Amino acid sequence: MAKKIAILGSTGSIGRNALEVISALEPAFEVVAMSAHHRVDLFCEQIEAVRPPVAAMTDPQAAQACRKRLGNCGCEILAGPDSLVEIASLDEVDIVVCAVVGAAGLPAALAAAQAGKTLAIANKEPLVIAGELLTRTARQHGATILPVDSEHSAVFQSMQSGCSAEVDKVILTASGGPFRNKTAEQMRRATIREALKHPTWTMGPKITVDSASMMNKALEVIEAVWLFGLPVDKIDVLIHPESVVHSMVEFVDGSVIAQLGTPDMKLPIQYALTYPKRVRGVCDRLRLDRLGKLTFEPPDLGKFRALTLGFEAARSGGSAPVVFNAANEVAVEAFLAGRIPFGAIVDSIEQCLEAHTNQSHLLSLEELMATDAWARQYTAQHLSASFKTVIQK
Ligand SMILES: NC(=O)c1ccc[n+]([C@@H]2O[C@H](COP(=O)([O-])OP(=O)(O)OC[C@H]3O[C@@H](n4cnc5c(N)ncnc54)[C@H](OP(=O)(O)O)[C@@H]3O)[C@@H](O)[C@H]2O)c1
Repeated sequence: MAKKIAILGSTGSIGRNALEVISALEPAFEVVAMSAHHRVDLFCEQIEAVRPPVAAMTDPQAAQACRKRLGNCGCEILAGPDSLVEIASLDEVDIVVCAVVGAAGLPAALAAAQAGKTLAIANKEPLVIAGELLTRTARQHGATILPVDSEHSAVFQSMQSGCSAEVDKVILTASGGPFRNKTAEQMRRATIREALKHPTWTMGPKITVDSASMMNKALEVIEAVWLFGLPVDKIDVLIHPESVVHSMVEFVDGSVIAQLGTPDMKLPIQYALTYPKRVRGVCDRLRLDRLGKLTFEPPDLGKFRALTLGFEAARSGGSAPVVFNAANEVAVEAFLAGRIPFGAIVDSIEQCLEAHTNQSHLLSLEELMATDAWARQYTAQHLSASFKTVIQK
């Protein structure tokens, strides 16, 4: 029988890749629900092509436009942020692919865990802000969380060479992004176009900017802590510009096991869907003979301050990662709107962390959301006081 899938964020970069992977794996998988936020045209096209019985648009006005456009097409269109939770916990769904961007995915990821689903998670922000709550909920309700992020998929695959007690270190690789060879000052003044020009990966705008600041790697360090139950001091980051070695695990005997592949998100998406099996899919084969060499270097922590702050937030734990993530989401949005320079992103995260008093107990969803809201408001106010005009288009 086909595995039934809900894709949260089907119009995004990961969502579109997931649809491509699933279409190549039919009839073993079937999309029975999907969601988007506000992109009506693309979502209507996807609904017409996939014909799921139910779909959700988190922006109510966009949902209305979608209903009007599709008429009586046999797909029920749910509306509003709660609709995401609704499709994540539908009885008939086996696997929830969480490909929403940002903290907005947290309630649905939690609902999928509570409903005992297999949660194929690309959306790293919920694990960063609520890693303990999410993994504990999954354990309590028999849900399985499988990584889709390429680095964590690589670690997950490499981990199968030993047991967790035998792991000495996890080495997350990073492309270094578009500013790897730029000075700190050039990076501070980078334009939107420069920040969005990723050398190896094609992704949504938020994660692309996060990759340029290496905030993405910082979020991934915290994500790895929760996905693999590791202390942060067992996690290292290594720059690997070719993005072919997706990450590695060093075991106690000194063996280093890595997973390699082309830089294509379809591979980790497919592995999360077919795990523990491997099947032929749509990905290109890696040609190491054509690549010639693979290079590695340590990250410049003085230049990529987001990474340093991320390690500190991971060590502090408690509410620090919530603040770290929320301040970044607000600052990246302001940068993409042309309101602040690139360098102000990390400055405002640092400022928000300094203004915050860490709460170290296990936070409830309500407490997490309240901290998230505080950090968003603090950062928004700080940025609008510091930058009063649009500085670039
Ligand atoms: N792209 C990658 O290669 C990659 C790799 C590893 C991990 N990830 C992670 O996967 C997640 C998705 O990344 P992406 O690059 O696919 O992002 P994206 O291209 O920006 O797509 C985001 C998706 O989320 C929806 N969305 C946006 N705001 C929302 C909200 N407030 N509530 C509910 N849904 C909302 C969007 O709908 P609309 O299109 O209608 O706005 C879209 O479907 C991120 O957490 C990212 O860090 C991505």
